[in-house]
Amino acid sequence: MTFFKQLSLQINYVFKSLFFLQYIPHAFFYSLKRDRLQRQYLPDPSANPVIQPGKLLQAQAIDRGAYFYFKQAELEISFLTADLVRVNWFPDLPPLPYAVVDRNWETVETTLSEIGNGWAIASDALSVTVGIDGSLKFCDRTGQILRTELPPQRQGEKWVHQAQLRSEERIYGLGERASSLNLRAVKDELQKPKTYQMWNRDPGGRYAPGTDPIYICIPVYLGLHDRGSYLIFYENSFRAEFTFADMAIANFAGGSLRYYMTIGEPSQLSDRYTQLTGRAPLPPRWALGYHQSRWGYRTEANVRQEVKAFQTYNLPLSAVHLDIDCQVGHRAFTIDPKRFPKIDSFTQELAETGVRLIAINNPGIKFSRKSNLFLEGQVLNGFCTYPTGELAIASVWAGAMAFPDFTNPKVRAWWSRQYAYLLDVGVAGFWHDMNEPAAFVSWGDPSLPQVAQHCLEGRGGDHREAHNVYGLLEAEAAYESIRQYRPQQRPFIVSRSGWAGLQRYAWTWTGDTISTWEALRQTVATVVGLGLSGIPYTGPDIGGFQGNPSAELYVRWFQMATFLMFCRTHSSTSVAPRTPWTYGEPYLSIVRSFLQLRYRLMPYFYTLAWEVTQKGYPPVRPLFWFDRRDRSLWDIEDAFYLGDALLVCPVVREKERSRSLYLPQGYWYNFWNDTAIEGGKTIELDSPLEQIPLLVKAGSILPMEEDRQLILHLYPPVKRAEEQRGRGAEENSYQQPPITNYQLPIQNSYTLYTDAGDGYGESRRDRFTLTQYEDSLELTWEQQGNYDFPYQSVQLHVHGVSLQQAWVDDRETPVQGQQLQCHFFHRVRFRCD
Ligand code: NOJ
Repeated sequence: MTFFKQLSLQINYVFKSLFFLQYIPHAFFYSLKRDRLQRQYLPDPSANPVIQPGKLLQAQAIDRGAYFYFKQAELEISFLTADLVRVNWFPDLPPLPYAVVDRNWETVETTLSEIGNGWAIASDALSVTVGIDGSLKFCDRTGQILRTELPPQRQGEKWVHQAQLRSEERIYGLGERASSLNLRAVKDELQKPKTYQMWNRDPGGRYAPGTDPIYICIPVYLGLHDRGSYLIFYENSFRAEFTFADMAIANFAGGSLRYYMTIGEPSQLSDRYTQLTGRAPLPPRWALGYHQSRWGYRTEANVRQEVKAFQTYNLPLSAVHLDIDCQVGHRAFTIDPKRFPKIDSFTQELAETGVRLIAINNPGIKFSRKSNLFLEGQVLNGFCTYPTGELAIASVWAGAMAFPDFTNPKVRAWWSRQYAYLLDVGVAGFWHDMNEPAAFVSWGDPSLPQVAQHCLEGRGGDHREAHNVYGLLEAEAAYESIRQYRPQQRPFIVSRSGWAGLQRYAWTWTGDTISTWEALRQTVATVVGLGLSGIPYTGPDIGGFQGNPSAELYVRWFQMATFLMFCRTHSSTSVAPRTPWTYGEPYLSIVRSFLQLRYRLMPYFYTLAWEVTQKGYPPVRPLFWFDRRDRSLWDIEDAFYLGDALLVCPVVREKERSRSLYLPQGYWYNFWNDTAIEGGKTIELDSPLEQIPLLVKAGSILPMEEDRQLILHLYPPVKRAEEQRGRGAEENSYQQPPITNYQLPIQNSYTLYTDAGDGYGESRRDRFTLTQYEDSLELTWEQQGNYDFPYQSVQLHVHGVSLQQAWVDDRETPVQGQQLQCHFFHRVRFRCD
């Protein structure tokens, strides 16, 4: 960077910092008030005795399970499915149904039997043993113990729940964490096991790896050990703390001890958890493209210029995000008509070039009688209050703000209506920021006081219960709004905060990361952890939010984000503008090639999005996803699967031009040169600046598109031994396994999903099956659904073996190198050497 550029950045930084000074006085007085109210009104559970269930007195079979009476507590165990059980301790404060979707679960047969020291209630997949002291054991159908819980403890409103962890056990999840993927691996400053907070938090414009909590806390985790894997979800939105040492300890400030436990392979756990809390609907297809954002697009002209540059540099672009600088005085639901004078025609102009406009919105409403929204909210009695009855007012961007109480259904309905005019002028989606809710403070918790009052669907309660669901309910209101006002289009909402079930309404992004290599590495664990917590659509600010990444860091960040579901560059107002062309060549060309690859992979991304609606699997998966028995995969947090076919190994270290990876068992192809590699060992992979290691699982059918042509890349299931010897040597020198390990033929299928890309019309599923015989490959195609096939032609591209001849529906068809051009077919046979 030149001296003058650096100087201008410094001046800009100082100038922007002065802007923040205006919030200091109010933040100071607000912090004082928050602390005073909490001292005065926050209940102190330690004044109460600690109560355990006491002795088990009686057990009784009920529909789907059993009911247990203890001396000082009651327990209900219900099987929702044979492998999913709900455990509820009483007395409790029943949770509001914000996370769990209402559904008719299948009938489950259970048997209750008295055993040595208690009772067992079992389905044919899972049994729960209830000890006479209230301890519980969960076993699979073979009798393996997957989890052992201690009797719960209640103290006033507070619950403490403990479970023993096996020495090798790993723990993943808890929503969005800037932590190791295995949450148990982390120690605090005193070298004690880290305590994770369950309290959505704005870390204040920047965070680094280790910061906890951040924006999305979800009380769900996956336990993985030698005997199996399980998932547990606490249906309790109260403030809580989780620690994982010899014991997993969950400590809730109030609410109920109601939780769900399911067992099975990681994929089954995701399937069940998202049956319980809902699955993300299909997004509009364009949303899977590239998004450009910046805190700093102040005018229509700014945005137009940026979009033009994308065209000039031949860079695909799907959306531009407008940050708070598009608003009037940073107020909710505004776009400044002076700076965006023709927003209506502007959104149309952009749409013609395939670009959508996304508008930001923060939940706070300017505390001013000049604001209509404020007056309406007041008439509705719709703002959060202090226990004294006065409005809870705190500073955010627009100054003093009142906070809509989204736990009030009338407020959600009112909020929903506000989106209408922005939808009318063509805004394509909404970006919900600062919705933890965030407040500017001088110290302490940057949110509303824990004692702020909420409607909670009419039953009443305080912020300890409402805080974590605040962003979720705001997203619900927006989603309902878009469904109602624009029924022919799929909603697109990005929310910074949320809770269990957010996936039903919104995408998210990983917030204000700093621009460092460590933060780039952190993104993988954060995104994978979110996926295991049910949130499939997320991604980082490419390059980091706070800071000026070097060209190399930006490129590496971009390369990784190319393979995440949400791909967006965004940065703070106090850093240099950042776009794919900011760093000139060769970086621009590298970014372009990755962007183009992402758009070519669109059929693959879109089919993954459809899979989310069917099974709830996160598209971005940990390496143990397909093989939880291989311990070497449990701690890998710098690589991930994108779907079933791709293994992505981002480069997360400066100047690294080759990186190692423990490759899961099986065969893999190097995406860039088709070299076959055998897994089950650590390998070294080239990673020149223009590439990151990308592997394709043998047996995959990888769909791509280009110029209205569908290209199916076929990767044979097994590499023939002689072939490998000849080719693999240049990249690796592994012992090739004998082909006799495999029973031919081997078959793999892939279902490609297509529809109009938006709306709720017809769709089609094209199922391709690839079979490998001794010296040939066969590809069959079955079609389902009424949507017309959208491609003009199909190209088949065979990898890893040398293609000699091909027959399309028994007619010999010429091949060009490794490729074959065709249209519809039932069966293609390839002779390969
Ligand atoms: C905080 C958000 O995390 C960030 O993305 C945004 O640019 C700023 N708020 C300003 O709106």
